[in-house]
Amino acid sequence: MTDNQFEDKDRVETLRIVTNKGEDVEGQLYELVGGKAFFVNLCIKLYEGVAEDPILRPMYPEEDLGPAAERLQLFLEQYWGGPKTYQEQRGHPQLRLRHAPYKINPAARAAWVKHMRVALEAQKLPELYENQMWAYLDRAATAMINTFED
Ligand code: HEM
Repeated sequence: MTDNQFEDKDRVETLRIVTNKGEDVEGQLYELVGGKAFFVNLCIKLYEGVAEDPILRPMYPEEDLGPAAERLQLFLEQYWGGPKTYQEQRGHPQLRLRHAPYKINPAARAAWVKHMRVALEAQKLPELYENQMWAYLDRAATAMINTFED
């Protein structure tokens, strides 16, 4: 499989869940999950897992994982309707492109997803919001795969 088949895949569409009153849950999700504090805690927890992971830890160039956790936090805040700080600081996300330097094979994806699952469950969101968030994260992680080599 060539790299070309992945082009444009970082535009991951999320599942749209609409309540029985016709409200689109996604538009309000940033507020519904608790605003900034939720995203800060989620990403801190994810990176606790990454810090201990033999596949993932060596990928991170910096000794301190704090700045990487913050970049993800700002991206996710923006994605779910919060402040646009990510864009102001980093420009267009271009996530596939930004992940291109790292070897993200299915094993790396599985490791990331495992730690993210633990991090998300630790936040104890109502099931509807947790499912909404998970549907996106799981698919976005698949879109980051850029090699099938070991
Ligand atoms: C599939 C497994 C994944 C791996 C192994 C991975 C790994 C990495 C690595 C090594 C970096 C660079 C570290 C740094 O920022 O200094 C990074 C950056 C980043 N990742 Fe991931 N990632 C994965 C999935 C995801 C997913 C699913 C998302 C979004 C939903 C995401 C969002 C980001 C963001 C926003 C950055 C910072 C980009 C920037 O502004 O430079 N990553 N990731």
